[in-house]
Amino acid sequence: MSKSHYSSIVVLTGAGISAESGIKTFRDQGGLWESHRLEDVATPEAFQRDSALVQRFYNERRAQLPLVEPNDGHLALARLEKAVPGTLVITQNVDDLHERAGSHHLIHMHGELSKARCVKSGQLFRVKEPLSEHSLCTCCVPANLLRPHIVWFGEMPLGLDRIFHALAQCDLFIAIGTSGQVYPAAGFVDEAASQGAYCIEINADNSHISDRFDEHRRGPASIEVPKLVKELCGH
Ligand code: OAD
Repeated sequence: MSKSHYSSIVVLTGAGISAESGIKTFRDQGGLWESHRLEDVATPEAFQRDSALVQRFYNERRAQLPLVEPNDGHLALARLEKAVPGTLVITQNVDDLHERAGSHHLIHMHGELSKARCVKSGQLFRVKEPLSEHSLCTCCVPANLLRPHIVWFGEMPLGLDRIFHALAQCDLFIAIGTSGQVYPAAGFVDEAASQGAYCIEINADNSHISDRFDEHRRGPASIEVPKLVKELCGH
């Protein structure tokens, strides 16, 4: 395969790229959805029913961020963006490890832990302290509740227009560390492939969508991503 000519690369990342930084995945053994029912913490109905519980769940996730660092996988993707400026990283992850590694052309399609959102106006706020069921916005009078800036099940992912535009243009699509069980992200490979992009999957294991890729690289993201980036851009 000749890869050096790729000029428009779309990378989709999932929890697997952050696993070696110490952030739990969702569906691996010991993953988050083993210890929490997603219906209790990751739906709009859960927030209506028990906002204190939902806020606590995301407070715990957010509190981890200062304790973890980007790994060689995140760092390699930032190098790829420098070498191939058409590179877009779409992440399902709500941590901030891609931006801390130096990726700029980045879409957080499932939201960001570091931000909260006014339930009425949608204005975003950087979260400086743990949120509670009493946390209020400063954009409305009277003030409204703040919710985590997270896309919950049943809600529309963010940035889909930009994402589908990029998928339609790309000549290389790479999915890293995602189990392929959550749509629409799990369908991005089909979109890219139907437009003629070459599709590579990097995963520690088989995923639900492995058969849709042209090439598979089995192994930890911290090893496999730098290896691929080196092949693509020489460093
Ligand atoms: P999952 O937990 O479903 O899948 C993690 C994937 O990463 C699995 O396929 C693992 O084999 C792989 N993996 C684990 N460690 C790895 C490593 N070190 N290197 C490479 N691969 C590794 O996570 P996602 O697919 O990201 O959504 O989950 C998608 C969405 O489901 C999340 O964004 C979240 C969740 O519910 C929301 O909360 C909206």
